[in-house]
Amino acid sequence: MTHRIIPVDPFDLVIFGATGDLARRKLLPGMFHRDADGQLLEGTRIIGCARSQMDADGFRALARDAITDHVPADRLDTQVLERFLARLDYVTNNVSDADGWETLKDVLGASPQSSIRVFYLSVGPALFAPIVEGLAAHGLAENGRLVVEKPIGHDGASARALNDRIGAAFPEDRVYRIDHYLGKETVQNLIALRFANALFEPLWNARHVDHVQITVAESLGVEQRGPYYDRAGAMRDMVQNHLLQLLCLTAMEPPYHFEADAVRDEKLKVLRALRPLTGHDALAATVRGQYRGYAKEAENPDSHTESFVAIRAEIGSWRWAGTPFYLRTGKKLRSRLSEIVVRFRQTPHQIFSDLGAPLSANALIIRLQPDEGITLSITTKDPGPGGFRMRETPLDMSFAESAERGWRMPDAYERLVLDVVRGDQTLFMRRDEVEAAWGWVDPIIEAWETSGRKPEPYDSGSDGPYGAIDMLSREGQRWRELSP
Ligand code: BG6
Repeated sequence: MTHRIIPVDPFDLVIFGATGDLARRKLLPGMFHRDADGQLLEGTRIIGCARSQMDADGFRALARDAITDHVPADRLDTQVLERFLARLDYVTNNVSDADGWETLKDVLGASPQSSIRVFYLSVGPALFAPIVEGLAAHGLAENGRLVVEKPIGHDGASARALNDRIGAAFPEDRVYRIDHYLGKETVQNLIALRFANALFEPLWNARHVDHVQITVAESLGVEQRGPYYDRAGAMRDMVQNHLLQLLCLTAMEPPYHFEADAVRDEKLKVLRALRPLTGHDALAATVRGQYRGYAKEAENPDSHTESFVAIRAEIGSWRWAGTPFYLRTGKKLRSRLSEIVVRFRQTPHQIFSDLGAPLSANALIIRLQPDEGITLSITTKDPGPGGFRMRETPLDMSFAESAERGWRMPDAYERLVLDVVRGDQTLFMRRDEVEAAWGWVDPIIEAWETSGRKPEPYDSGSDGPYGAIDMLSREGQRWRELSP
């Protein structure tokens, strides 16, 4: 396998919330990996910004710990680590205090080489607008690129209000709304699979596809994020962004070019074509669940927040009318497993009907995690002379094999941050996409709230609430097993 690493131009990455969890777990280790692979050139700087009083050495010590904790020992070359730490600087900035902004301006102004400035907001959503406005007020927004984490708003109206405030400081072509699912290797491979091969596209429609299942199952619970999660729930935390993005990439028409707006235009059309689910329709087409023990973890004994959602979605388009898209996501489930399953229809006529049980239909399984890979499940003859029997055979393409050959699977954030530096918005959500996604999600949440129904309880380590299983079995279908 050829694997080329192309260095990016020197840049300044300013991380707001630099002492937080995302910075420690993903951003600092991720940038270290890029440095270790030789992708960061001299002059590249990473400037931490947070409320904590600290100097550059304090931040370097924090980064050293974060990297030692999250980077495998065999990648921890001391020389590279020292080189990486030397790139770091730190500015105390509590947003409302002018001094912090002036210091940041001075630090950035002292940069001789880099003309690319990236501001990464790895902070709670309440700080998005104040930071953006602080950057603008201090003349730092000009030519800078802004990276915003989800959640973008709590509903359509708040997302629009936030996007307006962001848009007043940064034009859309410099705003990068991160959905880290788009940075996952297999998700990009889904795009390659669909649009770089002639094999699948003729079958990629309601005539040949019986249904699609999109699952993002987690085995962990809400952990330390109880207060945030209890206000959000699985619908806002996962469906509005990650699951709908996966649905868009699965369902979209071929873009005319692999270019940011061409891809995002096609995704937007899918979001707009989703059949609206309101009132009774929304209740009939969705299942909400809450794992036993959730309310205690979330410190809200009366919580009605869902930690699991299953939805039967339909796309009103010539390509997809008649093919349901089943979405499911939840916490504290049997295993951590994310995959997209495209289940094809049965052959029009079964010539092997005398062989007993009906043959299973073909399926294409795009596995995001764990064990990234793509499997095509086909029916073959059982080998041997004893009569003619059929069996399901997986044609497996596992990316883990490339890892065995010494190729490391980069984390989504590594790719996405460098895409920002390269100025490539293809894997980032445009404003209209985010708002269209809320436009579909809002009426479902409203129907749940109006109904006053509590989510269905389910056991930790299970497949989720019974209602979700029932939802598919009523249609003669079943979810794929949650075993990894
Ligand atoms: C985040 C959600 O966006 O994605 C979390 O806020 C969730 O609740 C996480 O756990 C899952 O990401 P991954 O990459 O571990 O599947």
